[in-house]
This record gives sequence, structure tokens and C-alpha cells, in this order.
Amino acid sequence: MNVNAATPSPPHETFHDPQSALSEWMAAGRALVEAELDRRLPPATEKPAILHEAMRYATLNGGKRLRAILALAVCQALGKDPRRALLPGIALEAFHAYTLVHDDLPCMDDDDLRRGKPSTHIRYGEANALLAGDALLTLACQWMAESVTPLPHPPAALVLELTRAGGSTGVIGGQIEDLAAEALPPEEERLLYIHSEKTARLIACACRCGAIAAGACPATVDTFGDYGHHLGLAFQILDDILDATQVTAILGKPAGSDAENHKLTTVSLWGLEKSRSEARRHTDLALAALEKTRADTHRLAPLTAHLLNRDS
Ligand code: IPE
Ligand code: IPE
Ligand code: MG
Ligand code: MG
Ligand code: MG
Repeated sequence: MNVNAATPSPPHETFHDPQSALSEWMAAGRALVEAELDRRLPPATEKPAILHEAMRYATLNGGKRLRAILALAVCQALGKDPRRALLPGIALEAFHAYTLVHDDLPCMDDDDLRRGKPSTHIRYGEANALLAGDALLTLACQWMAESVTPLPHPPAALVLELTRAGGSTGVIGGQIEDLAAEALPPEEERLLYIHSEKTARLIACACRCGAIAAGACPATVDTFGDYGHHLGLAFQILDDILDATQVTAILGKPAGSDAENHKLTTVSLWGLEKSRSEARRHTDLALAALEKTRADTHRLAPLTAHLLNRDS
């Protein structure tokens, strides 16, 4: 990601093939996000050290950084310096890390591996993992509140985006239905609710926050929200497909966990073929929403297509 200019297209990139240009741009975005997380998370030596160590472990342990990269990329696509979206971006990653820590607990998906390493509760114990998740959620709200929210948006706009997307009618609502569905008859309506809320809400939130950080008008914020919604649905369908088809070593989390937990997923409901076609359909809907924004989407469009073909 070229962070030194509002326009994201250094001339040398024309000599690269598009795939390696996209990979380089994403790697630069990831590096920016990693460095800011490292700088802003409380030091592991600060009291209570075990809590801060666990928070850092849960957050600085790899991951694609998709949500932060989307916030930066949307801001950049609207012609603004992507660093405007950096603090909201790391807030989204801290929030995401909290959901993963809690998602892996024995009372939820009971997964021992995350991002290729022992899950936070395996490394630090359940109580410390639970509290580290709580503290990351709190810190995410603090970072949103500390972010600059340009006009025409009210100062609380970014905090409201995260708290609305993340609460009982958002991510947490999706997670509770995901757990309940393990013991219920499979139903498409329930599956669509679970995917929308547990995953697409935060991804749409990331896109909306990037647009707000750029000072975009409310209609443009909504269009980027539609983009993120469809991208998020395609993303979770791929997550379900990969759980059923990929190996643990590449996934970095236990393959086959969904089947073991009797999860309601696109694969269990529709099978692989329809899951793949639905992922493609939502990717196309995301690309159509992106076109409507009239922003410079020369990075976001290939990123959207790339996510459909990811292998982890
Ligand atoms: C995993 O998200 C949880 C889902 C919503 C599917 P990611 O696949 O983005 O996880 P990381 O951040 O790359 O580890
Ligand atoms: C988790 O969905 C979504 C959230 C953590 C909010 P999954 O349970 O499918 O995610 P993975 O597969 O464990 O990453
Ligand atoms: Mg889960
Ligand atoms: Mg899980
Ligand atoms: Mg999954």
C-alpha cells in the first residue's frame, strides 16, 4: 500500500503483473497495521502483565488483516490518505481478535489452534483468554473513540459503527445463533442470518469506517456497506468451504471443526457446488456495489476477486 500519496498508483507498478502488485500492496498494508498494533497495544510488561501478554498474543499472531486492509483501501479509493483509517483499522482488528479468542473457547467451537499457533486459552488458560477478549473489545471501542471522525459525520460515528455491528443484533447475535443451530434442524433462513451477523457485519463495518474516515457522504458510506456485506457473505462461504476441504497445516486452524461440531454451514446445507456458486454470486454483487461508488477501485476490485480464490 502506498501510504505516502492519496492516489494509490505509483508508475512502477505498471511493470508488475497484477497479482504480484496486489500481493505487494496487501503486504504493505499488513505491515502498517502490524506496526501500529504493536505500538498501541499495552506492553507485555505493564501490570497486569499476564493480561497484556495474552492480549498481544491474541492480536499479534498473524492473520490476514482483512478488516483493517479494507478500511485503509476504501479510504484510499476515495482519494484520501489511507492512514486516516489506520486507528479505526486496528480497532477493527482488536475487535476481530476478541471474537476469535472467544470463538475458540471450549464453550463455543472448542478449537485448540488459531493462526497456526495454540489458541489463546490453550496458551494462557480459559479465564485469562476470556478476560483478554473482553479487554480487546474494550480497547477497540476506545481506539474508535480516539479516531478522528471528519465532517459530515458526528464525532461518535465510528464508535457507533463498531458498537452497532458488534453487539447483540450484530456479531454476538450471529455467534449465539451459530451455537444454537448446532442442535436445530438446518434452515436456510437461519444460516443466512448467522453468516450476515457473525461475519458480514464486521466486514461491512470495516468498509463503512474506511468511507467515514475519508469524509464520504452518507450515501457513499452505505454503498461501501453493501459492498462489504456481499464481500463478507462470500468470505464466510469460503471459510465454510475451506473448513471442509483444506488441511489444518494451511488453514492454521483445525480443519473439519464445523462437521465435528454439527455446525449449520453452507457446506452442510447446500453442498460444495452450490456453496461455490453462491460465493461467486456474492462476489459479483460486491463488485457491482463497488462500481456504483465511482471511487478508484483498481485495488479493491482485484482484492475482492482474490478473496474468492483464497486457500486459507
Ligand atoms: C476468521 O476470520 C473468522 C471468520 C469470520 C471467518 P479470518 O479468516 O479473517 O481470520 P484471520 O484474521 O485471517 O486469522
Ligand atoms: C467465527 O466463525 C466468526 C466469528 C469469530 C465472529 P467461525 O467459527 O466459522 O470462524 P473460524 O472458522 O473458527 O475462524
Ligand atoms: Mg464459530
Ligand atoms: Mg470457530
Ligand atoms: Mg469457520
